[in-house]
Amino acid sequence: MTIDQLKRATGHRAAEYVRSGMVVGLGSGSTAKYATLRLAERLRQGDLRDIVAVPTSDETARLATAEGIPLVSLDEHPRIDVTIDGADEVDPNLDLIKGLGGYLLREKIVAAATDTEVIVVDDSKLVERLGTRSPVPVEVIRFGWHNTRRALEATGAVATTLRLADDKPYVTDEGNWIIDCSYDGIDDAIGLSQAINAIPGVVENGLFIGIAKIVVVASVSGISVLERR
Ligand code: A5P
Repeated sequence: MTIDQLKRATGHRAAEYVRSGMVVGLGSGSTAKYATLRLAERLRQGDLRDIVAVPTSDETARLATAEGIPLVSLDEHPRIDVTIDGADEVDPNLDLIKGLGGYLLREKIVAAATDTEVIVVDDSKLVERLGTRSPVPVEVIRFGWHNTRRALEATGAVATTLRLADDKPYVTDEGNWIIDCSYDGIDDAIGLSQAINAIPGVVENGLFIGIAKIVVVASVSGISVLERR
């Protein structure tokens, strides 16, 4: 199977966690996209009824709307039954780094409102220790960002990079910028997350600790499901 076929199979497996009548969080990224497409397909087939969805990005909102999935806001539906989202790293505790796609802030707000967070990845995202494959994306406000960056370096980051798109700062759905912070592995992810979020100018970081309940993993040998104990 190609990588794309693996992602599709993973999205389809994750979509099985959604039942009729649920409020669903729709994640972002190339793997979560397939779960959204599968939910739309199940709605069309009549296999699924009466779901409403909260998207984690403008991009996902556009896809869901085009596919006929009814969207609602988190203010209308403050609790979400199941969210299906991607990730950039998954460690053995099912703790995550997210946000390489740029949507970490809404993704974390949606995840915090979710009863069952289902993560979809291919096995290249599995790591023994967070911070060994991916930087930690940190969403920051633009004002004073040089100071914010220096404070991020003081948390132990070995490199900090302002994320660019077309040679200009990448702008998030909430109008902020992202600084990608690389660490030589992270020993205390909760402590680091708290230290990052205590910096003035930081809006949120991409460490998702204790949030994922289920991780659906695609590999060339098939799909496996990891569950938080
Ligand atoms: C978006 O901000 C990220 O958290 C994505 O979920 C992540 O980048 C995974 O994307 P892929 O499934 O495309 O790798």
